[in-house]
Amino acid sequence: MGKPKVVLGVGGGIAAYKACELLRRLTESGHDVRAVPTASALHFVGAATWSALSGHPVSTEVWDDVHEVPHVRIGQQADLVVVAPATADLLAKAAHGLADDLLTNTLLTARCPVVFAPAMHTEMWEHPATRENVATLRRRGAIVVEPAVGRLTGVDTGKGRLPEAAEIFEVCRRALARGAAAPDLAGRRVVISAGGTREPLDPVRYLGNRSSGKQGYALARTAAARGARVTLVEANTGIPDPAGVDVVHVGTAVQLREAVLKAAADADAVVMAAAVADFRPAAYAPGKIKKRDGVEAPEITLVRNPDILAEISAERARPGQVVVGFAAETDEVLANGRDKLRRKGCDLLVVNEVGERRTFGAEENEAVVLSSDGTETPVPHGPKEALADTVWDLVAARLPA
Ligand code: PMT
Repeated sequence: MGKPKVVLGVGGGIAAYKACELLRRLTESGHDVRAVPTASALHFVGAATWSALSGHPVSTEVWDDVHEVPHVRIGQQADLVVVAPATADLLAKAAHGLADDLLTNTLLTARCPVVFAPAMHTEMWEHPATRENVATLRRRGAIVVEPAVGRLTGVDTGKGRLPEAAEIFEVCRRALARGAAAPDLAGRRVVISAGGTREPLDPVRYLGNRSSGKQGYALARTAAARGARVTLVEANTGIPDPAGVDVVHVGTAVQLREAVLKAAADADAVVMAAAVADFRPAAYAPGKIKKRDGVEAPEITLVRNPDILAEISAERARPGQVVVGFAAETDEVLANGRDKLRRKGCDLLVVNEVGERRTFGAEENEAVVLSSDGTETPVPHGPKEALADTVWDLVAARLPA
């Protein structure tokens, strides 16, 4: 089998220079990459760079090497097309099926997964015309990653920045791995919580847990690769924001509840992978708690935190919303998991065994996914992404058409 064929479409935006690194990552990881810049893209990065980095000739128009019918062949032969940066103009042309250069012709002939990584000024991204074009492309099954927030061209900042090349590469890798499989979460909105909450005692100390957020981030990345609009509510992970995902940063269980409930209002599915503290200190000391002569140790009174999973399960924000919980257990794992599924009232519960050096922070996990209909799906030891994909398979099967 030859190398997977990737077409890298490059739009005319200042972020075109970042596509060079994406090209590098793709070629170095064993992909045969054909760069197809638009004529405007060449104002930012010249044809020599694309040709040297890809090892292929570079054209922008359909009139070069006409005997090879490139306007049809390049798209037909591709295993993946990724457009980075995708300008507002390119998104509009793709949404409306215009084909006035080699890249737009390629987009019309490609039958493989297509990833758009938009980059533009915030006003252009938020314009109703762009919103509708993005919605059209997503409805048709394209993966349109959300732009990052940060410094744009010049001094302005906002949403519209091209995500880092490493992040776009991850989206491409997953889209290629899924191959011709339809992006079964296209048009769906999902909310995922990740990480561990921290409940402050004083300005210095908190009650926390060992969750790294890796399982939740794996769920976010895989959902985005399957076409979902993802809101990730993360607590204290320190992991960079994944491309194509709206990230809300929180600290405590109460903040996590607020953010999850807000995002869940129009979500098709909610997955609670965060390790949420069941208790928080009843009082917050505004100054550092000091050692006191004659007092062995201060007593800390705890109060219960809200049970977010139980609340979301009981009061579904939308009919047919699928709610997934995780159960982190140290003993009587399955028995405790079955009991938790009943108490929490969610549709699916992913039961995993945890310990000081087990599951928390690891790259791999193993679990049994319990369903409210009584079925149990064991997931063998493997990457956290594999478990995430199984969760999405089970969610997708439960979503209303
Ligand atoms: O982050 P990693 O290092 O990758 O590790 C992954 C993980 C072990 C954190 C993850 O796989 C996992 O098990 N997450 C759930 C941890 C947890 O809080 O489990 P629990 O059994 O205490 O809670 C059950 C469910 O109720 C969870 O979905 C939890 O998000 C939710 N919950 C818990 C307490 C609370 N007050 N509100 C909640 O919604």
